[in-house]
Amino acid sequence: MPLDPRFLSTAIEVVVQAGALQMAHFRKNDVRIDKKGTIDLVTEVDMAVERMFRTLVAERFPDHQVLAEELGGSMTIPRGPCWVFDPLDGTTNYVHGLPIFCASLALEIDGIAEVGAVFDPTRQELFTAQRGSGAWLNGQSLHVSSADTLVDAVLVTGFPYDVHGRVDEFVGLFGAFIAQARAVRRLGSAAIDLCYVAAGRMDGFWETDLKPWDIAAGALIVAESGGRVTGTDGAAFASRSGDVLATNGRIHQPMLDVIGSSRTKRRSTVGSGQSAVEP
Ligand code: IPD
Ligand code: CA
Ligand code: CA
Repeated sequence: MPLDPRFLSTAIEVVVQAGALQMAHFRKNDVRIDKKGTIDLVTEVDMAVERMFRTLVAERFPDHQVLAEELGGSMTIPRGPCWVFDPLDGTTNYVHGLPIFCASLALEIDGIAEVGAVFDPTRQELFTAQRGSGAWLNGQSLHVSSADTLVDAVLVTGFPYDVHGRVDEFVGLFGAFIAQARAVRRLGSAAIDLCYVAAGRMDGFWETDLKPWDIAAGALIVAESGGRVTGTDGAAFASRSGDVLATNGRIHQPMLDVIGSSRTKRRSTVGSGQSAVEP
């Protein structure tokens, strides 16, 4: 049965409206900022965008489930349609006036992403995908890069909000990629990282400890751009695992090899009681 065309049009409508709300307050210092954790911020804009999304989906699809960052939802995969939404991906950038943030929305059916939309309002870039039909940037077909070695690849990653207590874990792997890639970046928005792999601007993205709303849409956009998406251990991608390796396909196995050897090295270092990072 063909997919209801209102699914993709609704996803686009939500992320574009989200962008308008985000830009209305960007660099204005007129919104309240709270802390959800030591370094994990939430603003009134995150909340307002999520309320707009919930109202729109409830009116249009009253029997659909929703899972979104600020007001929750079930983390187990429900049967049938479930909208998975990040109202503002890149909140730290947003609060600091850095123009790298977006809204990210996927519709999963039985846990499989069918449509995805990510909108970066500062660049007016709308990334979309529909499973089996392709991915687009502002209507133009998207394709991953053709880099086929790590030394010719630009990689991107991110760190979770509990990084302070886990620095060794992340720095070891980050260092292993710095030692082999052309460059490694940390932009601060997992959804944009994924879209940049889809657009061929980056060649590979890895991150663990993410949430479904960070990656559900972007992973579909990469896959529909001809890329490969798995967990960082090479297992089948699952948005709820929060664990992702997304590449142009050609550097997927080399990245898996670096991750595998870095983890093996870390296990032996931790097992011997040595610090993985020099003070
Ligand atoms: C964060 C961003 C960041 C990633 C973090 C996420 P938020 O999302 O995607 O790039 O490294 O792990 O939590 O909090 O800005 O929506
Ligand atoms: Ca996020
Ligand atoms: Ca967010």
